[in-house]
Amino acid sequence: MNRLDGKVALISGGARGIGAETAQLMVSVGARVVLGDVLDQESAETVAALNTDDEVAHAVHLDVSDEDSWTAAVKAAEDAFGKIDILVNNAGLFLGQDFEEVSVADWERLVAVNMTGVFLGTRAVAPALRRSGKDSPHGSAIVNLSSIAGLVGAPLDPLYSMTKGGVTIFTKSTALDFARKKDPIRVNSVHPGVIDTQMGQQTIDTGARLLTNNDRDAALHRSIQRHPMGRLGTVDDIARAIVFLASDDAGFMTGSSLVVDGGLTAA
Ligand SMILES: NC(=O)c1ccc[n+]([C@@H]2O[C@H](COP(=O)([O-])OP(=O)(O)OC[C@H]3O[C@@H](n4cnc5c(N)ncnc54)[C@H](O)[C@@H]3O)[C@@H](O)[C@H]2O)c1
Repeated sequence: MNRLDGKVALISGGARGIGAETAQLMVSVGARVVLGDVLDQESAETVAALNTDDEVAHAVHLDVSDEDSWTAAVKAAEDAFGKIDILVNNAGLFLGQDFEEVSVADWERLVAVNMTGVFLGTRAVAPALRRSGKDSPHGSAIVNLSSIAGLVGAPLDPLYSMTKGGVTIFTKSTALDFARKKDPIRVNSVHPGVIDTQMGQQTIDTGARLLTNNDRDAALHRSIQRHPMGRLGTVDDIARAIVFLASDDAGFMTGSSLVVDGGLTAA
């Protein structure tokens, strides 16, 4: 179950957090992975930890907001491993500011990574996915990292919510678009609750500043309490969902939104 034997995945934002854990889990179930990130040193360290005897992981410099950067990353991935079967659009930013105080420059930086990055990545990798999908009974796969903030309202960063709402509906629309063209490419999104990564910690810091009078412990407690299962999510929780959607186990799924939030949005 959930095997990715022989598959090649390109993971944006793979240097740390959810992206790095996804790379590790994918390698453990048989895939080879290419990590694309602006953090070259962290990417190299993540790759070094994955490459044991065989070369199963490769790092490329990737700025998801830059079209030429995507072109170079796709070429590097195909040069390294010959094809791409899976794209994980994972790179993301969270501003954590009251939207009334955000500069237009910061908004444009957020959009460039969270939305333009997903658009450019999908477009740049589609030809490779189209080719590899024809060789697989369940096609190739794109997994987009949206958020619970892309499904329901969230009080801490409405601009982040707007970008993730865009990723949610872009996922469904590209799924329909590829299906209409008879392209063997499935597209699905994952919607994490608060996950214990640098970005997750940033959401707690923002909660402390905006909601609990700079009491960080109270903000952490509040964040945990919002999850009916009584804990924050882990990178492993999310990596497993991404691997599922990327695998043939999800062969009849496209345009789906997989919520992994400890019950937060169930109420
Ligand atoms: N952590 C959470 O609580 C949470 C919740 C919901 C959704 N998400 C989403 O999951 C994804 C991963 O989040 P994370 O928690 O691992 O965050 P993180 O901040 O730990 O990691 C994000 C990665 O994206 C990379 N990145 C940023 N800008 C980039 C760019 N221009 N080009 C290439 N890479 C870039 C960073 O360098 C970093 O390695 C994001 O899309 C995020 O919005 C996270």
